Amino acid sequence: MQKIALLLIAVALFASCQSEKKEKEEIVIGKKTVAEKPYDIGKRIFNGKGKCYTCHKIDKKSIGPGIQEIMKVYNEQNADVVAFLKQEAEPIVDPETYTVMKTNFAILKTFSHDELKAIEAYMKEAGNSK
Ligand code: HEC
Repeated sequence: MQKIALLLIAVALFASCQSEKKEKEEIVIGKKTVAEKPYDIGKRIFNGKGKCYTCHKIDKKSIGPGIQEIMKVYNEQNADVVAFLKQEAEPIVDPETYTVMKTNFAILKTFSHDELKAIEAYMKEAGNSK
């Protein structure tokens, strides 16, 4: 009889430890999804409120040059995407159609420095993917 009681206690203890462990794991997983990488933030802005995707595809020209084309020129010239988006640097990819890109500075002005850095992070990574 005593043995069975001990066994039951052991099982109960084990079960409670397990559920505690599980709760902790869930909390950690929760934190991971909250901490978004700049790449993901940039991708969301580029394809969302920034509406950049309407003119910029990744690997081909549409209304604007593709991201790969833009980043090729930026890498070659060691240029700064954020400076361009802040209107602190001249266009270097296709200055002839700059007037079309210029229409976006109204919305770009509403983005924080971190949001512009996130767009840059996304363009760098998307531009380097083949
Ligand atoms: C209405 C179409 C359009 C939209 C929307 C648009 N672009 Fe552009 N973009 C262009 C065109 C056309 C060019 C080529 C002219 C130029 O080089 O500035 C360009 C060029 C660029 C360049 C290269 C600039 C350079 O040095 O020549 C970057 C970087 C860029 N766009 C980022 C963005 C981002 C980020 C967004 C979203 C906030 C965006 N664009 C939205 C049309 C657009």
